[in-house]
Amino acid sequence: MLLLEIFKMARILRIDSSSRFEGSHSRAIADVFQNTWLAAHPGDEVVTRDVVQSPCPPISAQTITGFYTPKDQHDPALAKATELSDRLIAELQAADVLVLSVPMYNFSVPSALKAWIDQIVRVNETFAYDGQQFAGLVKVKRAYVICAYGAAGYIDGPFAGFNFLQPYLQGLLTFLGIPEVQFFAMEATTADEATVARNLAQVKAEIQAAIAAS
Ligand SMILES: Cc1cc2nc3c(=O)[nH]c(=O)nc-3n(C[C@H](O)[C@H](O)[C@H](O)COP(=O)(O)O)c2cc1C
Repeated sequence: MLLLEIFKMARILRIDSSSRFEGSHSRAIADVFQNTWLAAHPGDEVVTRDVVQSPCPPISAQTITGFYTPKDQHDPALAKATELSDRLIAELQAADVLVLSVPMYNFSVPSALKAWIDQIVRVNETFAYDGQQFAGLVKVKRAYVICAYGAAGYIDGPFAGFNFLQPYLQGLLTFLGIPEVQFFAMEATTADEATVARNLAQVKAEIQAAIAAS
């Protein structure tokens, strides 16, 4: 049993959400994360979902009705309205590790990522509510969140009060039942070249240390 556990390959679900492909810091750092992870854990599998290239539609009234109707009572219309959510949740529940690459847009998450979130946060699927308490049902053991900020000061500086990105994702992932959540912040992506290079080197070192400890 122990041997089986040791040799069990993990599945990583990587979600990219920058609208940029060329020059995206969050995507580039997620590449660094992925390469470093695979070097340390050869044989692990990475599944990538790009919520910009394959956008999730905003949830419709039918989808919401489907979320709150037991699955065995779904008619074809409700089954269709919740089909994407079913698929995205199955993909999430099959993962051991979740990696999100996230640019800060207007102090929070990009709408493309929020649309994915709205599809996967679902009662009796990814969280439970017994009338008194909530419980997370997501089986992912650990999440790593790579955030790119155009300016500086969001982590422990003067703009910390405007950081609705990290606290939101920390709260959400914890709510869903993921016990360990680690953030990597690349601040000041729009600063001069030397600052960007320095911050990039720092975040790469943080990633290497986190993966070495994983
Ligand atoms: C629509 C939009 C909104 C943005 N809003 C903010 C913001 O509120 N605060 C900030 O520091 N940077 C903001 N930025 C800058 C991005 O966070 C920064 O360019 C980051 O590097 C984007 O991630 P990427 O490099 O992966 O594309 C914004 C950029 C865009 C395109």
